[in-house]
Parts: sequence; C-alpha cells; structure tokens
Amino acid sequence: MKKLRSESSVILFTIGMLISGGGVFSQSSTSLPQLGKSPMREVIAAMTLDEKVKLVVGNGFRMPGQGGQMTPEKVPGAAGSTFAIPRLGIPGIVVSDGPAGVRINPIRNQDSSKTYYATAFPVATLLASSWDTDLVKKVGMAFGSEVRDFGIDILLGPGLNIHRNPLGGRNFEYYSEDPLVAGKMTSAMVNGIESNGVGTSIKHFAANNQETDRNSVNTIVSERALREIYLKGFEIAVKSAQPWTVMSSYNKLNGPYTSENYDLITTILRKEWGFKGLVMSDWFGGKNPVDQMKAGNDLLMPGTSQQSQRILDAVHHDSLDTKVLDENIGRILNIILQSPSFKNYKYSDKPDLKKDAEVSRDAAEQGMILLKNEGATLPLKKSMKVALFGNTSYNIIAGGTGSGDVNKAYTISFEQGLANAGFPVDNDIKKSYADYLMDQKAKHPKKSFFQEFMNPTPPPQEWMPGDDVIAQKAADADIAIFTIGRNAGEGRDRKLENDYYLSDTEKVLISHIAQAFHAKNKKLVVVLNIGGVIDVTQWENDADAILLAWQPGLEAGNAIADVISGKVNPSGKLATTFPMDYKDVPSAKNFPGKEFPDQAKNGNFGFREIPAEVTYEEGIYVGYRYYNTFKVKPAYEFGYGLSYTRFDYSGLKLNSSTFSGKITASVTVKNSGKIAGREVVQLYVSAPSKTMDKPSEELKGFAKTRLLQPGESQTINITIYSRDLASFDTNRESWVAEAGTYTVSIGASSLDIRQKASFSLPKELVIEKDHKVLSPTVEINELKSVR
Ligand code: BGC
Repeated sequence: MKKLRSESSVILFTIGMLISGGGVFSQSSTSLPQLGKSPMREVIAAMTLDEKVKLVVGNGFRMPGQGGQMTPEKVPGAAGSTFAIPRLGIPGIVVSDGPAGVRINPIRNQDSSKTYYATAFPVATLLASSWDTDLVKKVGMAFGSEVRDFGIDILLGPGLNIHRNPLGGRNFEYYSEDPLVAGKMTSAMVNGIESNGVGTSIKHFAANNQETDRNSVNTIVSERALREIYLKGFEIAVKSAQPWTVMSSYNKLNGPYTSENYDLITTILRKEWGFKGLVMSDWFGGKNPVDQMKAGNDLLMPGTSQQSQRILDAVHHDSLDTKVLDENIGRILNIILQSPSFKNYKYSDKPDLKKDAEVSRDAAEQGMILLKNEGATLPLKKSMKVALFGNTSYNIIAGGTGSGDVNKAYTISFEQGLANAGFPVDNDIKKSYADYLMDQKAKHPKKSFFQEFMNPTPPPQEWMPGDDVIAQKAADADIAIFTIGRNAGEGRDRKLENDYYLSDTEKVLISHIAQAFHAKNKKLVVVLNIGGVIDVTQWENDADAILLAWQPGLEAGNAIADVISGKVNPSGKLATTFPMDYKDVPSAKNFPGKEFPDQAKNGNFGFREIPAEVTYEEGIYVGYRYYNTFKVKPAYEFGYGLSYTRFDYSGLKLNSSTFSGKITASVTVKNSGKIAGREVVQLYVSAPSKTMDKPSEELKGFAKTRLLQPGESQTINITIYSRDLASFDTNRESWVAEAGTYTVSIGASSLDIRQKASFSLPKELVIEKDHKVLSPTVEINELKSVR
C-alpha cells in the first residue's frame, strides 16, 4: 500500500511539475528519499525551495486544494491542513478545533443520510471546577477518539489562558485564574487526547487574555507576572505532557507579536522548558512570516500564498538562512511522522458517540458547583412539581461560540432533563416559553458562521410572564427554578451591562418569582448556565439555592437534573473567583486597555486594525492572589463549593519540619454528613517575604477524594517540591525560595482553611537561573502588597 502510494505520488509529482513548469528535479524519482524510511536530513535536502516554503505555510482557510495537493478536502469544516509532498512520502495533515469537542461540518454535500456530529463536552471552566485530573484525562481519551475517528491529526486545544478578567470573551475555553490548575488540567487533557495517537495544540501562547483588539493589542506585563502567572500553566503542561504542538497567540507581548518572538518561542519554550514539538501560529496571526520562521514559529496557519512568497523572497535575498527554514521543516516533519495521516490510519467516521455522551454527562456532573443551599432547598424532593422559568431552561447553552463551539447532534434541555428525571414541569409555562422562543427564532434567521462572527445575534430578551401568571404558578407548583443563561466567544469580550450584570428584565423576574413563591412558603432555585463569571451580589438574596451549571455540553439537561435531584452530590469548586462587584476585580482599571485610533490601519481582510495596549498593573495579583492578600471580600471565593454532605478535616501532618527537596502533607477527610460525596482538598502555601513581595498564600497542590460514604474517611497525601516554594526574582532572573518559615494551609476553599502546619527552609534555594528576556520596555506601575 505504502509502495503504491509513493509510485502514484511520483506520477502526481511529474504531472504537477509539468503543469506548474517547476524546476527539474535531478535525482531519479525511484531513488527519492521517503519520509520515515530515509534519514530526515535527506528528505529535507530532497525538497525544492518551493516545496519548503509551501510546507511551512498551511493550505489556506478552509480551502484545502490550494497548491493542488489536498483535493478533495479530507475533513470538511476542519480548520486547516498542511501541504502534501507525495513524491517524498509527506502527507498533508489535518487540524481541527476546538477545546470542547471536534468542530467539523456535520453534513457533507447536503447529504443528511450520513452525519458527522461530534460530542460537545463541558467547557474547560467546568472541567477545571471538577478539580479532578483523572476525570479530565478520561474526557480527553473520549475526545481524542473522536479526533482520530474523524480523520483529524491535531486537535486545536486545549486552551489555557488565565482568567484575568471576568469579561474575557473566551474564558469558557480556558480553565482557571490559577496557573497550577490550568497547567494540571491541560496536562491531563493532552495526555488523554494524545493517548489516541493524535496530537494537540495547547493555546494561545501567551498572555492572550482578551478579545478586544486581539490582533493588535500589545500586552505589557512584568517578567515576574509573566513567569509566575501567564507562562506557568504552559510550563507545567509542556514539562509534564509534551504536547505535539503549541499555538502562538494573536497579541503582541512587551513589543513584538508572540509568533515573531524568538525569546518566547525558542529561548523559553524550547531551550528553558525543553519543548520538542512544533509551534504553529493562530489563524492569520502575526505580520512578518520571515520573523515568524526565525522565531521558531514553524507553521503559519491557515496559510496564504503571500506568506510563502515572502519567505521565498527572503531566502533569495539572503535575509533568511535556509538552515533556519530547514529546522522549521524538521520539526513539522517530526510531527507528521507521528500522525495518523502518515500512518495511513483507516478512520471510521463513526466514533462511539453514545459512550462519549456518557463521559460528557459524568464530567458535567462532577464540575457543577453548588453556590448556595439555604435550608437544604436542594436536592429536590421526589416528584416535586416545578415551575421552570428562564429562556435557557428551554434553550440550554451547551458551550460557547466561535471556534470553541461544537456541531453536536442534540442538546438535552433542562426541561427535558427534569422530565427524564421524573420531575413534572408545569405545562403552561413550558408552552409559553416554547411559543415565545419560536417567535424569536423566526425573527432572527440563522446566519452563516462568518456573519454571526462579525455581527452576533443578541440572545432573545427574557420572556416576561405577568405577575398574575407567576402568582398562579406559586399556587400550583411546589418550587420555582429560574435559569440565567450567558454566552460568549472569540472575537469580542463581554459587556458589563446586560451581561456581567443581569438585565433589568432578569432582575425584575427573579425578584417577582421570589416574592410570589416565598409568600407561599415555597422556594426559588437559580441555575447559572454561563461560561464566565457574572454578578451574583444584586440578586442572590432572592434565591434559596444557586447551582452553577456552567456550559455543560450536550447532555446539559440530564446532568443538571442529576445534581438537582440528588442522584449526584455536587462536588465542583470554583477555579475562578466571583467578586462582590466588577470594580473589585484587580484588572478592572486595565481591561481591555487603551486604543490609538489615529494610528488605525487596514489589517487582515481589510478590517480596520486599531493599535492598542493593555498594561497588567495588577502584576502577580490575579484572582484570589489579589482578593486574599488585599482582604477584598469576594462573593464566592476561589476554591469554594458546597455539597449535600459535610466534610471534616483532621490530623494534618508534614513528614518533616525542615524542607529538603520535597515535603509531603497528609490530612484525613471524613464525610461527616448523611449522603455519599466527594471533597476537593486544597493545599496553599504562605511563603516568607523578606526579600520579595508575596501573595498571602498560593495554591500548590490539590486532590479530590473518592466517593466517600457517610462516616467514611480518606487520607490525602500531597507532595510539594522545591520549585513550588520559589518565586521569580527579576533582579536575579532566578526562581528563588527564601529561607524562613513556610505555612501549609489545607482548605475546603482559599478562605475556608481547616488545618495548618509549618516547616522551615534553613537556607535560601536558588532553583533555576533563566534568561533575561521578554522584559517590558516601559515602566509598569505594578501593584505591591504591603504586608
Ligand atoms: C482561534 C483559534 C482557533 C483558530 C482556528 C482562531 O480564530 O483564535 O483558537 O484554533 O481560529 O479556527
């Protein structure tokens, strides 16, 4: 089979050369080096310059076939592919979005007799809220089997940028405000997906924390904040999981575009961290293809012929050494060698969607967070009659928009989920919502992906039942549930009004429902079907219980119903803080930065591109590092989440009182309530801060118990290493752990500390000296703590 392929490649090549009038290849075609069979350097040496500049540049945007090598399109709807050179045994490979499931066209050639729907898994923020890396790996394994079975070589995810600000439009695609959580989740996901023999692309490298001006913004950030917060998760993932690829980001970082930045991609990623794979650009990211090659950004996606031409010209004019290009090519070929396409993998186009839906449902249930539960409102008592309010109760949001969206065959609505779980939903309200939503749908016909991206259809206003209807339902039903829905995605950040804050209609509705039901001694449960943080302060008093369901994937309704009914005891905890108010957010003053409209020019596809910059003045004080250190009380803190049971912590022991290389903390967690459940145990360290400013505490480890029966205990061991004690000392370009006393706090959240112990580090440790790179060129008025 392989032989056949290479013979036909030779014919193809010959025809290709005849058509293109390309240069004559001197070597006899039968003795051409072949990828995988001949030494890599011979394969590279046998490539023409024309082939080289096409290989480092993808086949174009959803138009494979450019260059004549990839027709017909192998996986319609995939985000891109690379140039094939059949005469040298080099296949093209296919890359596809996205972080919550394979994103390809579900229908091909208008033939709906065979479909290509994929599983929508819960969004990353929900997965992180499970604090369960085994679970995330399991999701990755199911996810990766779909990548493989749909004929894709590399999945464009997971995303692990930091939740710097609640308004970040892509926060749902990312895990956490904390780099340890983000890094560990990413490793688990990468290991899971790649166990299927396909690749991942962890993204977006780096400091890409907003969508506003995403192709022109210059992120100005201190070296320390960069190293400790924005690079850390990538470092953890690269060192522990070695993903096949890394995707550079759209933004500039302290000056140059990330994809053009040698210090970021080569000095830090490859030399300091030992990354072995290839780096690809984000779609149309960066400006200068020659600088991108030199930086080590090996593959430009999706690729344009102008980029190939500029690289070709640079080689001709001696401004790009072919040695550099050959290194880029070597790294691309190394990845192609591992790919299913190279191995001629016979993909089925038939993943086990049923099995994967179960994985998705289970993960959704493990990552939902019970924020409030006054008077044991939840779980619902059997067969309670529910008055179900809120548009998204009937039109649930499985995941975010843009490249983070998934074309799934179905989504179980909350109403369906409740019905499946045996809870009768009031029919009148159901019908009113159905009519209203149908009418709204008719008013806003479905737009193409591109039209929607450019001009998103606003969500329908909440349907407003009259007070008489609400009063009637308060008399008829046993309980009210109101779902608040939010959606966002790439291309724009969220807004404060009618998004972070509830709309007036939502506020009125919640308070009217609460009044009517409370007057009858009945309760109101609020379910949050959201991808990022919203305001809770203004309305939470109206709710007796609040379940944060996030965007839970295609089994949404079933998963929420399982938690609400008590079939599953909620065990998720926040991996991102809910502040009291937006103005408390440490980056509020510096998000999304400032624009320079007088310098606007035409960017990609003729869009106006406005130069912009954002300065991370909050420095390392992101999320709980800020709220805890500066004692700003949040609405719901990092690490917080309730359960239907209770857990007691006891017997914290460190295996030594003096640190030498590592230290292990062990603590016993007991389920002291009446229902089986799981607990997330968090380990925070408070470090001495004589020579460096430090947050009051930082998360350094976490674990989740197994399902503990009432009365059952489990001892959890968490080990921390020298690196975990260190902070980045910019004056010395080194990771340094100060001598002194370190406190270990074991908590059920970052503020609910249950056990403490301390150890000493007799002598300062200099763990690693790094390069002096990526320094900001302007002074940053960085936040410091006064402790
Ligand atoms: C996004 C990436 C995505 C790529 C391909 C870009 O707009 O930023 O995350 O992988 O498109 O669709």
